[in-house]
Amino acid sequence: MTASPLVLRDADFGYGEQRVVSGVTLEVQKGDVVAILGPNGSGKSTIIRGILGLADHLGGDVELLGTPLHRLRSRAAIGYVPQHHSLSSSVAATVREVVASGRLARRRWWQPETARDREIVEQALEVVRLSHRADEEVSHLSGGQQRRVLIARALATQPDILIMDEPTAGVDQASQVVLAKVLGRLAQAGTTMLIVTHELDALHDIVTRVLCVNNGRIDFTGSCAQYDLHLATHPTGSSHHHHDEAEAPVTTPLSSEPLDTAATRQS
Ligand SMILES: Nc1ncnc2c1ncn2[C@@H]1O[C@H](COP(=O)(O)OP(=O)(O)O)[C@@H](O)[C@H]1O
Ligand SMILES: [Mg+2]
Repeated sequence: MTASPLVLRDADFGYGEQRVVSGVTLEVQKGDVVAILGPNGSGKSTIIRGILGLADHLGGDVELLGTPLHRLRSRAAIGYVPQHHSLSSSVAATVREVVASGRLARRRWWQPETARDREIVEQALEVVRLSHRADEEVSHLSGGQQRRVLIARALATQPDILIMDEPTAGVDQASQVVLAKVLGRLAQAGTTMLIVTHELDALHDIVTRVLCVNNGRIDFTGSCAQYDLHLATHPTGSSHHHHDEAEAPVTTPLSSEPLDTAATRQS
């Protein structure tokens, strides 16, 4: 029996003393594709950054492949595609070089690149359909293509879980369609993914579980079908309104208030 790729139990995340998100409970099984939804400023990125050790873990349990977060020696098991866009235009590297840098996490610095490393890089380029651009400078690629380069780099680390923060945001419609197809291929290959997104529609077929964050709290957890039902029965619910900006930073007191009664868990 292998441990779940990622388990969160009543986890809190924030910055220093400031708790931004509280009470996150989620068990990600191998092959799951979890969509994290919620308005801007609700804490989606903070959850992801907390899992990655880039924001502070302030309470509850987080386990990666059965190992508690604070005992992890390395996060090589996580592939990460950060929010905010593409590679800087000042990066002088080819597409292949950027993707190959993903292999560095997997070998000692003194070890040379092996044939296996090169094979994995070529496969990652193929999955994002950029093999034919491999020798070009990344700065010559469009924003959507650069996003695919970053996905390929994360894939090249052969992660147990691939975490992406708004991978389809800020790219044109055509690139969004291509990116959704890339994510579809990854899902088909059984890649475990955690994806922050505002475009659930495009990913509806591959998402196995939805987590809604609102004001630093989880106000829904369930399958896509349960989420559709939730929207139908909570037409004024705010989780799917993503255009409103957050009014104020969230500091959640340790109150004993129950979570939204709509919060359900999939078995
Ligand atoms: N480095 C930081 N230090 C302090 N507060 C932060 C930091 N980054 C984000 N925040 C605050 O955390 C809250 C949630 O932000 P974020 O997780 O980025 O939301 P989302 O990804 O859902 O848009 C916001 O109020 C934001 O101001
Ligand atoms: Mg964010």
